[in-house]
Amino acid sequence: MSGKEQEERARLLAWYDQSRRILPWREDPTPYHVWLSEIMLQQTRVEAVRGYYERFLAALPDIPSLAAAGEEALSKLWEGLGYYSRVRNLKKAAQVIVNDYGGKMPGTREELRKLPGIGPYTSAAIASIAFGEPVPAVDGNLQRIFARRTAYEEPIKTKQAGEQAERFFAARISKDRPGDTNQALMDLGAMICLPNGAPHCEACPWEPFCLARHQGRETALPIMPAKIQKRREEKTVFLISCGDRILLHKREETGLLAGLWEFPNEAGHLSTEEAREVLAREGLLPLSITPLPPARHVFTHLVWEMTGYRVELESLPDPVRHPASPDWQFAGRGELAGRYAIPSAFSAFRERILKEPSLPR
Ligand code: ADE
Repeated sequence: MSGKEQEERARLLAWYDQSRRILPWREDPTPYHVWLSEIMLQQTRVEAVRGYYERFLAALPDIPSLAAAGEEALSKLWEGLGYYSRVRNLKKAAQVIVNDYGGKMPGTREELRKLPGIGPYTSAAIASIAFGEPVPAVDGNLQRIFARRTAYEEPIKTKQAGEQAERFFAARISKDRPGDTNQALMDLGAMICLPNGAPHCEACPWEPFCLARHQGRETALPIMPAKIQKRREEKTVFLISCGDRILLHKREETGLLAGLWEFPNEAGHLSTEEAREVLAREGLLPLSITPLPPARHVFTHLVWEMTGYRVELESLPDPVRHPASPDWQFAGRGELAGRYAIPSAFSAFRERILKEPSLPR
């Protein structure tokens, strides 16, 4: 271990002790708390996670309660966070922990990696923060710090760059405070070594060591991989109500947003006339049909460009022509907020209907 690495480590931890963020999962870092926070924080900002984290733990305070939770309750607790496979894997892993590990999370990176939904980054984060194993948890923040600190001129997010970053941080992790080293780097990435060419180098504990800064290349690095073109899909979303009830549809159990609730929708941007025809085919006779402002939702590989119609019905559809199906529900407004998990892709429409004054009938 060189003197420089020791100095880097010491400066980083001193900065963390002064400047670290106060976050709920840092107050009581049990394995379950750390695990839950790390899963929630994948692809989601810290500020967005706070409330979800508190609510989730209030409902499911430990691993056995998570293992026994119902799918609908879990989807509701996750509503708006996105990437719902994360919460399904969370439950699956909790079941494995209850069945195979006596309800206690395994304490090594290697064992953690065998659990559903726990990959190289998450296993290292849990092992270091909750169990004190000195392994670096390399995520996008750490890759960016690595690229700037070492003036890495190749694209990051390649296997090779990941391995080099792993070696770089492994040489700098504190054996006494491995979790704090990783979290210091996460905070550095979130507060100082910011992406998109805007780092606050003057406040960085690693400024004296940073090659990109030394070379005046801190805004040019890291080199990002070329952006993939996202597929575009057009949709028409229907907010169909009868009195105070809103029509919802449960999505298929496989594929995108599997098993979650949505507002009925059709492929393409339909004209009012086409929308009326679609509704008539379903035996729905609107009292009124009004266009809604467009909305868009960006997934990882896909963009939904949505238009919509607000449709008010005179009466509920004929139960003879529309035999009750559990996948179609006229939900009460209160249930829309409290019971059915509707993904963020529809939140512009959901907000709209929730903001309308209710019309008792
Ligand atoms: N991002 C992912 N994990 C984190 C953690 N433990 N603290 C801060 N930001 C994070």
